[in-house]
Amino acid sequence: MIQKPRGTIDILPKEAKKWQFIENAARKVCKKHGFGEIRFPTFEETQLFARGVGDTTDVVQKEMYTFIDRDGTSYSLRPEGTASVARSVIENGLASETMPLKLFYIINCFRHERPQAGRYREFYQFGAELFGAATPTADFELISLAADFLDALGITATTLHINSIGCPSCRPNYKNALVAYFSERRDELCDTCKVRLDTNPLRILDCKSPVCSEICKNAPKTIDYLCQDCSAHFDGLKARLGVSGIRYNIDPHIVRGLDYYSRTVFEFISEGIGAQSTVCGGGRYDGLVSQIGGPELAGIGFAAGINRLILSMENGSAYKEEEEFVDLYIAALGESASVKATGICAVLRSKGFTAETDMVGRSLKAQMKYANKINAKYTLIIGDGEIETGKAQIRKMENGQQTEINIEDIAAIISELSAK
Ligand code: HAM
Repeated sequence: MIQKPRGTIDILPKEAKKWQFIENAARKVCKKHGFGEIRFPTFEETQLFARGVGDTTDVVQKEMYTFIDRDGTSYSLRPEGTASVARSVIENGLASETMPLKLFYIINCFRHERPQAGRYREFYQFGAELFGAATPTADFELISLAADFLDALGITATTLHINSIGCPSCRPNYKNALVAYFSERRDELCDTCKVRLDTNPLRILDCKSPVCSEICKNAPKTIDYLCQDCSAHFDGLKARLGVSGIRYNIDPHIVRGLDYYSRTVFEFISEGIGAQSTVCGGGRYDGLVSQIGGPELAGIGFAAGINRLILSMENGSAYKEEEEFVDLYIAALGESASVKATGICAVLRSKGFTAETDMVGRSLKAQMKYANKINAKYTLIIGDGEIETGKAQIRKMENGQQTEINIEDIAAIISELSAK
């Protein structure tokens, strides 16, 4: 028996409705905020992620699905969407259009992580990216888009956490403080973090090893090292969140696992879904576009993990399961009846009704049982007799009430189906 790869999921029709509910909410909210949809390849050149996401991040170092193509090029399945969107913005000349540029996407992503509840190797994201606006108003716009989206889903048990991780001008001071702090405890750090201490000390802060996480608890905090501009920017965001009534906590421990961030970073944490509780994460990335070969272009965005939203919805949401039904099931007996029934179904479907007939050769009794199973509102039985006379009984399943109709008279059938 061949099974699906570890850390992947099958989404069956009943469950798929919840996914559609989330995707529809995302599209609706994006429309309201003026974000247009962007679609881009599932795989990109590996160097895009190495340069964009950062080659000292866990995502790039340990988690990418990378393969060498027949021409020798190294490609990777996308571990996230932001680097690809930035690449597409540059490649398609969107950076010279009127700003801000507002884009959203709904994608699958791939990371070779250890699977557990809420953590998969193929997972799904709804993401939004805003380019060409470096103001705190843009930060607020993105955060309020995410908040509106979570509201539309009716997921209420989430809290917003924000932090600022500074910019290239204040980062060196902070880095020095980190290096000084971690150097004193160098021997206790895991082997990867010993290397990170020399290459990218900030990444030690999102090490998942228990010893490193413990050491990180007392590490210097970015917000204590912000330059004046970064401080003012962060204050600007807090002021806007304040007047809008979006509640937040300042969490100096949020550093995010990807290298492109600067200034604002944020996460929405959901209660009651276990350890993998960040349902949405994002931040500003003013250096990303130039980092991968484009012009200087400010950017900010977020991505919400759809798998985790599905888990959160189990604790209550705005999702209501709709009753499934079929307007008409035609029980057909014999070849001529089957041909007639197929024709009636086709016409009814073209008029917007749902209609089905037998296609597995069931007995009349079994067909009626099937009609019940698919919750047919009406049934019509056609056999040799009905073909001969042209007359048949259409039955309202709710009360068993029967009406004789002419099977050639589609208008009469429709009028029955439409009767209250
Ligand atoms: P991220 O924090 O790596 O950020 O992922 C965003 C969200 O995707 C997470 O908060 C989580 O809900 C979901 N997620 C991540 N990894 C997994 C996994 N293995 N299984 C299930 N869900 C997962 C980014 O990807 C950035 N591109 C977000 C962003 C957009 N920043 C700026 N713009």
